[in-house]
Amino acid sequence: MNILLIGSGGREHAFAYKITQSAQCNKLFVMPGNAGTAQLAINVPLDPLDFTNVGKFCLDNDVKLIIVGPEEPLVKGMRDYFGADDHLKQIPFIGPGEKGAQLEGSKDFSKAFMKKYGIPTAAYETFTADTLQAGIAYVKSHSLPVVLKADGLAAGKGVLICQSNEEAVSELTAMINEQKFGVASSKVVVEEFLSGIELSVFVLSDGTNYKVLPSAKDYKRIGEGDTGLNTGGMGAVSPVPFADAAFLQKVEERIIKPTIDGLKKEEIHYVGFIFIGLMNKDGEPSVIEYNCRMGDPETEVVLPRIESDFVELMFAAGTGKLNEIELKLSNQTAVTVMLVSEGYPGDYPKGKVMTGFEQTSNSILFHAGTQKNEKGEIVTNGGRVLAVTSFGNNLKEAATQSFANAEKIQYEGKYYRKDIGYEFL
Ligand code: AMP
Ligand code: GLY
Repeated sequence: MNILLIGSGGREHAFAYKITQSAQCNKLFVMPGNAGTAQLAINVPLDPLDFTNVGKFCLDNDVKLIIVGPEEPLVKGMRDYFGADDHLKQIPFIGPGEKGAQLEGSKDFSKAFMKKYGIPTAAYETFTADTLQAGIAYVKSHSLPVVLKADGLAAGKGVLICQSNEEAVSELTAMINEQKFGVASSKVVVEEFLSGIELSVFVLSDGTNYKVLPSAKDYKRIGEGDTGLNTGGMGAVSPVPFADAAFLQKVEERIIKPTIDGLKKEEIHYVGFIFIGLMNKDGEPSVIEYNCRMGDPETEVVLPRIESDFVELMFAAGTGKLNEIELKLSNQTAVTVMLVSEGYPGDYPKGKVMTGFEQTSNSILFHAGTQKNEKGEIVTNGGRVLAVTSFGNNLKEAATQSFANAEKIQYEGKYYRKDIGYEFL
């Protein structure tokens, strides 16, 4: 079958890698894609948010399955647009509608959802311009640290962890009155700080049935030892050593099942991925956040560990038949190391020529921000540039392999963390 994949990051290259391994895939289109997806598929330079033209493209190219990588088209109602058209609604579509995507698109919605369905999460209150005075009083006497979250999408930047009550008052005011994160922060969730160790679990839902995919841990800070600014993610490991069967059992009983049941009770037909960011405190899980998509770079370690035919898995999810699929997973450990541009997560240059690809071996190179220039060279085109994924019989083996190959890729200003997985080694 012909398949359309939406997105252009390392996550989408990992999807493309799995999709094109399947005999079920005829043509794969990636919209817009990157230099890595171009090696496996046909990149289509259309704007995914231009739903009318995306729909037309699907009909013209006999697309039989659509998979959406990033959250934005989902939060903006791509599934709903397709669902409202007699022809387009026939195409199985992986990604929730606008309402389900609120799990990520609105922190207030997701917190209220968790509260309603008894899902463990930090205690919270929500404030807007109308309730700012009450909000100020609330954060003034809140225990520390106190966490402030812009309600809407803020490109991963909308969360502030305040160490003093004065800081919290001034940040809350800036978020609501000065739109520090644009309209996303006209509503702010104020919540309790959770201590512990973070990890993520991923669930694939077909609206009725679900499968729990491998867990992963990403490394969000730019600096080694988890220091410095937050990034989209500098590396990831899967499985997560401390996420043992007993812990995952708790996650399934207390979080995954009530989430799936809650979505049904809310009459949200959720088809797609649910990324559950968790805090593990002394073996007890609570939810930090939901996302309506897979993580990046978590996908670059989770998908390679899936041994079942990936297109069959996606098609089953899109047609409500996940119960007919047996999910087979690799027992090996996967580690990915993200190469980034100098300056990231701040400003960074683009267009740096990349070399050394053919010197690498025994790793999978997932392109993130790359493109081909007029000379046909692969050049950098983003902050996060390339994810180097390796397998091993243990974390050390996998990490060592990724670091060795990360060293071989060359471009001006290359930076990567040399300590991915460090706390487990
Ligand atoms: P988010 O944008 O919701 O992923 O939050 C970004 C990061 O902020 C998370 O990955 C956590 O590291 C941290 N964070 C968010 N909420 C909390 C919380 N309630 N307690 C502690 N850390 C948090
Ligand atoms: N790596 C975190 C995310 O994809 O949101």
